[in-house]
Amino acid sequence: SDGPSLGDRVVQWQRVHGRHDLPWQKNRTAYRVWLSEIMLQQTQVTAVIPYYERFLQRFPDVFSLAAAPSEDVMALWAGLGYYTRARNLHRCAQEVVASYQGEFPADPALLQALPGIGRSTAAAISAFSFGTRAAIMDGNVKRVFARVFGIREYPGNKPVEDQLWLLADSLLPQEGMDAYTQGLMDLGATVCTRSKPVCMLCPLQSHCVAHHEQLTADLPVRKPK
Ligand code: ADE
Ligand code: SF4
Repeated sequence: SDGPSLGDRVVQWQRVHGRHDLPWQKNRTAYRVWLSEIMLQQTQVTAVIPYYERFLQRFPDVFSLAAAPSEDVMALWAGLGYYTRARNLHRCAQEVVASYQGEFPADPALLQALPGIGRSTAAAISAFSFGTRAAIMDGNVKRVFARVFGIREYPGNKPVEDQLWLLADSLLPQEGMDAYTQGLMDLGATVCTRSKPVCMLCPLQSHCVAHHEQLTADLPVRKPK
């Protein structure tokens, strides 16, 4: 469709209508961003915030976290669930200290080689703290793309997912990777929600197949039984 690209629309929308006051949005060091992204992998924003603040108080940097007894790390994580994340978090901190002198690498491929960091998390950390052009692909992004591009297959199917990654790579803006990455998350969380997308307020409305074909209730396609 006409006008600004999808990437530029997301960037502009995020700067005006996106979230700007989440604790991990200030002082975006790789350590602070990494900690938030691990916590947010399987836990909602509101549940993460108090844990995030407590972790940063107790472990203000990767060195203090790496040096802590694992019992202390596990105790501070207690209640967040998915405890493999906490073990990997601790191992990751130790590896960043041992292999990178405590500086997280900027390259998403190197980040992805660290414990607990998958492809999407690596991209988010790198985009937020280094401005790297790398695509994220979480549940929210899958839903937004499935609707915008009218993808009529279950997006969890490997070939469909591979297609989505290629699409995501091709849509990255030249500038504003932090706003773009946060903007996709914010769109999925506040506008293009699962059950009641607010297409009237969406910066992608003119691009969106699901909106134009009245398919928002049918996309993304649910997991086949
Ligand atoms: N979920 C994963 N990363 C997030 C972020 N940076 N802000 C809000 N929700 C998120
Ligand atoms: Fe989602 Fe509606 Fe925006 Fe399409 S127009 S991306 S369905 S909110």
